[in-house]
Amino acid sequence: MNPQKNLDLGTFAQDVLIGLSSKPKSLPSKYFYDAKGDKLFQAIMAMPEYYLTRKEFEILENQFDKILASQLAHGKPFNLVELGAGDGLKTKILLRHLLQVQADFEYYPIDFSGSVLKELKDSLTEEMPGLQVFPIEDTYRGSLLQRSWANERPTLILFLGGNIGNFPLKEAKDVLDHLRLGTKPGDQVLLGFDLKKHPQVILDAYHDPSGITREFNLNLLGRMNRELGANFDLDTFLHWPSYNPVNGECRSHLVSLKKQEVFVSALDQSFKFRAYEPIFTEISKKYSLPEIAKLAKNAGFKSVDKFTDSENYFADVLWERL
Ligand code: AVI
Repeated sequence: MNPQKNLDLGTFAQDVLIGLSSKPKSLPSKYFYDAKGDKLFQAIMAMPEYYLTRKEFEILENQFDKILASQLAHGKPFNLVELGAGDGLKTKILLRHLLQVQADFEYYPIDFSGSVLKELKDSLTEEMPGLQVFPIEDTYRGSLLQRSWANERPTLILFLGGNIGNFPLKEAKDVLDHLRLGTKPGDQVLLGFDLKKHPQVILDAYHDPSGITREFNLNLLGRMNRELGANFDLDTFLHWPSYNPVNGECRSHLVSLKKQEVFVSALDQSFKFRAYEPIFTEISKKYSLPEIAKLAKNAGFKSVDKFTDSENYFADVLWERL
């Protein structure tokens, strides 16, 4: 950054500055999720190619009683904390069951997106009036360090949807270290992992013919135009996902189709693009079950149980903090 400009930059602007000044260029995928991005992600979850949501739905619907058995067995009031709550559609399966058996619990949905939390809270108030819900607008790691829930109670933390896959391995391990910091011995976490499978099935989930995932990625540029006064021409960027079956990484890029210069008013700075220069936008890492077991062990958790769908596409794993 040019120190003489002395701009008072927000976090988004700062992250854009860092990302677009890096070689290769990148942008953090957490900025996909503004009001428009939230809507697009909901459309992605409804796409036939995007199996992740459907498969996790199947797991929760068929196995919710086994998943919640130990929380119900200890008989004490407990916290149900959810990282990256989203629209809560899947969590509602668990919530409904807990309400039905009159479990004594409080629900703490955590999300980086205030608009998502508001919608979730409104829909829960309408659908489940008896539910005690305390939304927290924060990042995963920030909320785990704060532990803003009633900490003396047993806690089950949900981290569903394969969101852990949106971190490169090293960072995923750091998130798991934060999960250890945010829990006490005996607490449990339920983590959703997308599993390694036929590469074409994975690629199709991120390269839908309807172009919704393309729009979802391009919204990062649109958001910079709207919020940071940038002048990205969205038609000059190509959405390009690829899957590497060796490391399980599905990576998305936006590729500049021509040599161009883009100005970002909030930064008072231009960024040059070579023809076909990519911006890395997102990783969605896929895991094998042995890799997941190893992650648990290294992060200080005991694997309690694992729940998979009928095709072994997705796994929700239950770990206990040692
Ligand atoms: C939120 N996350 C688990 C999604 C994924 O599959 O990585 C985000 C997404 N990106 C493109 N499609 C969906």
